[in-house]
Amino acid sequence: DKQQQDALKKAAGIEAAKFIKDGMVAGLGTGSTVRFLVDELGRRTQEEGLQFTGVTTSRRTAEQAKGYGIKIVDVDDVDHIDISIDGADEVDKNFNGIKGGGAALLWEKIVNENSNYNMWIVDASKVVDLIGQFPLPVEVIPYGSGHVLKKFEEKGYKPVLRKGADGTEVRTDENNFIIDLHMDRIEQPHDLAEDLINTVGVVEHGLFLNRVDKVIVGDPNGPRILTV
Ligand code: A5P
Repeated sequence: DKQQQDALKKAAGIEAAKFIKDGMVAGLGTGSTVRFLVDELGRRTQEEGLQFTGVTTSRRTAEQAKGYGIKIVDVDDVDHIDISIDGADEVDKNFNGIKGGGAALLWEKIVNENSNYNMWIVDASKVVDLIGQFPLPVEVIPYGSGHVLKKFEEKGYKPVLRKGADGTEVRTDENNFIIDLHMDRIEQPHDLAEDLINTVGVVEHGLFLNRVDKVIVGDPNGPRILTV
């Protein structure tokens, strides 16, 4: 249940926080698992005087971190990122993952791309044999997005424009839309990634292929570490 799952997310977050040391530049991801990580980093900042610089993958995370007095700067104000820690929606044993359930995939990929080391924190339910059951988020420019949706339909990608509780389109931190692809099974993730990124109007997609160095899995028996 949710409470049990939250406990696993929290354990993974606390374990990952140990990798952040004084003086580092750290990328802080987005989502309910990362929230626990930031809580722990906030606690260490306040109680242990931890000092590091954070770069965040969403405005939400920036707000949370600043609330703890963590120093947050723009990604373009750092010349490198030592380590980034983010959540994921699914990950397989080859470290192919899906991200963007929280609509933050674009900034997440930019921070990931510019990090020397990338770590994900997930609960055990997200480790899968084959990715795709979780709908794959694709960030698209609003202008012409109806045509992108139609193209995806024709290709059998089962696209759904993401809407919020109020019935309006979800907007990303870059003010774009999200189209979720309900493909169920993604057998050829590299081919799909190629096709998506070459579609005019697509800004980025949530396939993160070989982009992570370590995955910390919150497991009922304690956090487990997966490395490639
Ligand atoms: C945000 O866009 C996502 O990529 C998150 O990292 C992902 O959805 C994991 O979120 P949870 O930790 O809330 O499951």
